[in-house]
Amino acid sequence: MKNSEAIEKRRTFGIIAHPDAGKTTLTEKLLLFGGAIQTAGAVKNNKIKKTATSDFMEIEKQRGISVATSVMAFEYSGKQINILDTPGHKDFAEDTYRTLTAVDSVILVIDCANGVESQTEKLMEVCRMRNTPVIIFVNKMDREGKDAFTLLDELEEKLDIKVRPLTWPIGMGDRFKGVYNIYDKNLNLFQANKTKREEEIVSIKNVEDPLLNDLVGDQFAGELREELEIINGVYDDFNRERYLEGEVAPVFFGSAVNNFGIQELLDTFIRISPSPIGRETDLRRIEPSDPKFTGFVFKIHANLDPKHRDRIAFLRIVSGKFERNKFYHHVRLDKNFKFPNPTSFMAQDKSVIDEAFPGDVVGLYDTGNFKIGDTLTEGENMYFKGIPSFSPEIFMELENLDPLKSKQLDKGIHQLTDEGVAQMFMIQPGNRKIVGTVGQLQFEVIQYRLINEYGANCRFSPKNYFKACWITTENKEQLDSFIKAKGNHLAKDKDGNLVFLAETQFLLNMAEQDYPELVFHKTSEFKLETN
Ligand code: G4P
Repeated sequence: MKNSEAIEKRRTFGIIAHPDAGKTTLTEKLLLFGGAIQTAGAVKNNKIKKTATSDFMEIEKQRGISVATSVMAFEYSGKQINILDTPGHKDFAEDTYRTLTAVDSVILVIDCANGVESQTEKLMEVCRMRNTPVIIFVNKMDREGKDAFTLLDELEEKLDIKVRPLTWPIGMGDRFKGVYNIYDKNLNLFQANKTKREEEIVSIKNVEDPLLNDLVGDQFAGELREELEIINGVYDDFNRERYLEGEVAPVFFGSAVNNFGIQELLDTFIRISPSPIGRETDLRRIEPSDPKFTGFVFKIHANLDPKHRDRIAFLRIVSGKFERNKFYHHVRLDKNFKFPNPTSFMAQDKSVIDEAFPGDVVGLYDTGNFKIGDTLTEGENMYFKGIPSFSPEIFMELENLDPLKSKQLDKGIHQLTDEGVAQMFMIQPGNRKIVGTVGQLQFEVIQYRLINEYGANCRFSPKNYFKACWITTENKEQLDSFIKAKGNHLAKDKDGNLVFLAETQFLLNMAEQDYPELVFHKTSEFKLETN
């Protein structure tokens, strides 16, 4: 296949949601539509169950299984759709943030009763940083929820994005009648339907048509007419360019569990979502159509079997064609590698592939050569930007319980942090290791893996930090005075960058005020910009 055809055909995206909003259910329904799975429940079984929070072995097992669903590819309507799975569990949020660097657009799922929730805001912040195009799916319309206009206002206000409904609900909960497709001008009548794919769609080109009253009753028909008038008055017409710029998000309503409203979502997604887009490097922007192969690693998955310490590095292809058994340049290590078994994932199946194209994600078997953010090229030395570490939210000091195993502990914690399980900061005196994560669960996972995979026994003691901020400045004098004043709260990250461990928001604000020439970065993204 020619590169240009392959690029045009691909749609690589992620589904994001606050836990429980319906991400897994929606993913599964999309796979059913695409014919990639035959039965409901297939994706669900791979999910990290919320009830298992303290059972880390179970979680590790489930993480292992979820390798298979890290990327789910299927064909629909002539397009190859790559869904990149994002862990639902909030303690794995950083995994999700990084996966978002490898997608070209996202579908955000909102629970109509809960509206915008904490995780929704955080995930959208990451999308906004990169102007990722967003489609919003308001789910669970079969349940009582917030008024649709109130929800739209809340979305605009809290997510800092304009919205544009493309479908509109008629009633909700027990009185949910269906959705009206504003653009195609047809009515999709609701029926609880968990497995089948057919829907009852009636074309209503003019909402004044009395057929609308026959189908949903006078009251609902009247309400719909009024509401559509308001929508057309308040919201600008949908503009694809603005969607692609990440400025406006089209909104759909439906019920994932009932398989309702998914068809409209998927069909519109196919029509408007971007084909693979380019990425910035420290040298220049790379476009998918550039003939030479480039790609970056955004996720590393450890092998479950402790006897085999190999891992899978997930590579997003940005340009050119990736080929099996061809030598590629690992920029950070300045070494060439070839990959005899690059793996692709088609829903539940894994298979070795000979070639892959921009937008694709391939799994590379790795014996410890890769770190998140690594770039592969055909020889050129450059790094992709935009694969940042985010400031952790929970900090603990790592204490070695067995002095004879300090080497193993060191190796283990370095490898685990390369995988992105956590971040590590070194603090003086004594080169103490502060481990930072976004979730409590990670500490259990680390402790368990250090003992099981590296034979190193450790303990964590809580540290009362609020945020880790990377510091840069041109003003050496101010930096010296800051180091003098805050020495106790300064650390180095693994690459030797200076980090301020702030104990409270207040102290961070004070530092920003007192040292206006210092920049306090909340993500490590600046590293490439200052290189
Ligand atoms: P997540 O991945 O975002 O965490 O959410 P998930 O799909 O697991 O959905 C969370 C719960 O919401 C599930 O119920 C699911 O069945 C339900 N759900 C999803 N879509 C809809 C919908 O359109 N309407 C209604 N009423 N419920 C929906 P659960 O009780 O946690 O799991 P299960 O026992 O149903 O599998």
